[in-house]
Amino acid sequence: MMEIGRGVLIEPRLTDQRSTSPFRLWGLLYVRTGKDEEGQRVNRPKITVIGSINMDLVTETSRVPDLGETVLGTRFSTHPGGKGANQAVACARLGADVTMVGCVGDDPFGKELRENLRKQGVAVSHVDSVSGEATGVASIVVEQGDNSIIVVPGANHAVTPEKVGQAEEAIREADVVLLQLEIPIDAVAEAVGIARRHQVPVVLNPAPAMELSRELLDGVSILTPNEYELAVLLGQDKEQEADFRRMLAVYPGQVVMTKGGEGAFYTGEEQQVFHQPGFPVEVVDTTGAGDTFNAALALKVGQGEGLAEAVRYATAASALSVTRFGAQGGMPHAVQVEAFLRRGEWECP
Ligand code: RIB
Repeated sequence: MMEIGRGVLIEPRLTDQRSTSPFRLWGLLYVRTGKDEEGQRVNRPKITVIGSINMDLVTETSRVPDLGETVLGTRFSTHPGGKGANQAVACARLGADVTMVGCVGDDPFGKELRENLRKQGVAVSHVDSVSGEATGVASIVVEQGDNSIIVVPGANHAVTPEKVGQAEEAIREADVVLLQLEIPIDAVAEAVGIARRHQVPVVLNPAPAMELSRELLDGVSILTPNEYELAVLLGQDKEQEADFRRMLAVYPGQVVMTKGGEGAFYTGEEQQVFHQPGFPVEVVDTTGAGDTFNAALALKVGQGEGLAEAVRYATAASALSVTRFGAQGGMPHAVQVEAFLRRGEWECP
């Protein structure tokens, strides 16, 4: 019988094949994270986020135009965004000690975004202002709560392997490293390599979608694609429904696939598939929902929680995030997620 708000086993073990990844997650986590020197549980994990920082240029419309067509929109606004920055802000609101590694341009957007991160409690000593570069921007069209996005990375291209190398200490000291794919892939690979050397778990949100090398994936502790990103990762036709099971055979217990309002699917060590149903809420804007999910998951991993609890918490946090406008606008604080999970509703502060 299904318990409301809990992950449900939907498929038994598929095969007896074990992961070939040398970077096993759970044994490692209990050694590396969630405890202080006396073995007490630490509730403020250190999370280092390495990723993009964008200004979101948001146009709201009742209908997205076809190619060659013009329509009148209803509203335009700018908001802090970028998958990396969004995840850093969400982690901070949920109670982590967060260090951001990234780049902005030496322009007014860059100043505003760096200041926004600082105000949200994110450490910005590794956020560089790159001269002669424009800050990354995302043109976002919101139509009835759903969005489409074009990102022009600008200064995010300056997050090089060297820049990541300069942040080695922030990676070594972290309980979790949180990554996405809006910075150059060799910088992502460098971050994974450093984290692996220091035995720090890595949560990789493989967005935007791209194929990744087996070597890079082997250094990742938890991978969090949506259905489309998973299909691309598996080299499948993008229109095809992703064959989740193929990834399971190689990385059991390490893949969490998000599926919008339907919640998330994740795998156990024994290759079972569990479903965490989504929480019904009134959707205002889905921008940043995935970022909130990843941040909340990383937080729980850093606190030493099991995957089931981490996914349940992340699903609740991302449900709350879609009830407000803007990528960071609806990102909840820890007390709000806890109240929502207790009472099934979100009380605004
Ligand atoms: O995940 C949402 C984010 O994707 C937006 O804030 C936008 O900047 C793009 O990076």
